[in-house]
Amino acid sequence: MPKQWYNIAADLPTPMQPPIGPDGKPITPDMLAPVFPMNLIEQEVSRERWIDIPEEILELLSIWHPTPLVRATRLEKFLKTPAHIYYKDESVSPAGSHKPNTAIPQAWYNKQFGIKKLTTETGAGQWGCALSFACNLIGLECKVFMVRISFDQKPYRKTMMQVWGGNCVASPSNETQAGRDILRRMPNTPGSLGIAISEAIEAAVSDKSGETRYSLGSVLNHVILHQTIIGLEAKKQLKMAGVKKPDIVIGCAGGGSNFAGISFPFVNDKIHGENIEIIPIESSTCPKMTKGPFTYDFGDIAKMTPLLPMFTLGHSFVPPPIHAGGLRYHGMAPLVSQCIVEGLIKPRAYNQLKCYESALTWARTEGSICAPETSHAIACVIEEANRAREEGKEKVILFSYSGHGLLDLAGYDKYLSGKLTDVTLPDSELCDSLKAIKDLPKAERKKTGKW
Ligand SMILES: Cc1ncc(COP(=O)(O)O)c(C=O)c1O
Repeated sequence: MPKQWYNIAADLPTPMQPPIGPDGKPITPDMLAPVFPMNLIEQEVSRERWIDIPEEILELLSIWHPTPLVRATRLEKFLKTPAHIYYKDESVSPAGSHKPNTAIPQAWYNKQFGIKKLTTETGAGQWGCALSFACNLIGLECKVFMVRISFDQKPYRKTMMQVWGGNCVASPSNETQAGRDILRRMPNTPGSLGIAISEAIEAAVSDKSGETRYSLGSVLNHVILHQTIIGLEAKKQLKMAGVKKPDIVIGCAGGGSNFAGISFPFVNDKIHGENIEIIPIESSTCPKMTKGPFTYDFGDIAKMTPLLPMFTLGHSFVPPPIHAGGLRYHGMAPLVSQCIVEGLIKPRAYNQLKCYESALTWARTEGSICAPETSHAIACVIEEANRAREEGKEKVILFSYSGHGLLDLAGYDKYLSGKLTDVTLPDSELCDSLKAIKDLPKAERKKTGKW
């Protein structure tokens, strides 16, 4: 197992633009202190390239790490492709996805800082499970606001959280002012990650004991830092398999931490001259990277977060209720966004029918049933493996198998019975939510790279 996390902020050709307040002034670490513990804020603003993983965290991660790197030989054979397809199996974690890679460190650093309780949001339920699992191991209380549509579609995720001692409610809820305001305006809303984040932050900062903090499962720099364990392990494992480098690296991206986790160690290689195609995949119903502008925007609907420089569809955007709940976030991590601006990575968007078709091909060749989010990466893997066949090239494709879908069978059921449709996103909806951010400060779109 790697003993240090990799921080790409040290290597980006253009320095990151800072998070700012609504007045346009950069946010200082002190301003974040009511929301996050200072030891994590230090990681958030760090420009150190390598950050040591504390021994106790390594010991807890070793419950399921290193995760397997597997060659998908049966899929290769089925596709008759000369490509070699490798996947990093993050579904083997206790919660079933990559999310515990950051839940453990976040709970650990909060505990070190004297915090007693964490609040958070969850989309598909994977993050809520991961944080409940980590808080239980480390001895913290955990409160989860789960996006309404996923709460209804995936009831057993709530049960899992309860098994690990977490307390999960559907969002928007009546427990916060932000939730009550939304329910008054949109009583039938399916909810969104932007709404659930507002509720979780409010629940943390309004606890007068000072012993509660908020924890985010994606988007932020320190979350991405923790997830680089995926790519760092993959790099060592590829070497053990005799592979010098991958030609293509793929990951699905909701807030961006899974994609960044598998790819950033390879983005570093690309910055230093390697030829690697690196592709984040989003849902075509929430196309921030492929259709949104790169600008400053809030991370949540109630504007409680700082303004972040990112690709966004606007903080009030409520995506259609697709089954890949973890991809229903309006913005993209600033670090991932900057890599797009630099031309280091090139995003693609896929619709859900194509992704379920790919998930079935996967299950019928490789055996495992993937999460709906993960199926977006598999759709791209199949596309690239087919291209390799047409071009007659023996390319090495690496992707993050970010989670299993054993609690997502309602979506598979709908697909198999022909009831699942592609949701088309009317341009008018995009226009409305983008109008709401047109007066916010603009992020500079500087590009220094040659890619
Ligand atoms: C299985 C799975 N894969 C990928 C994602 C997207 O995560 P990220 O925010 O890290 O991009 C999620 C989010 O919930 C998920 O559950």
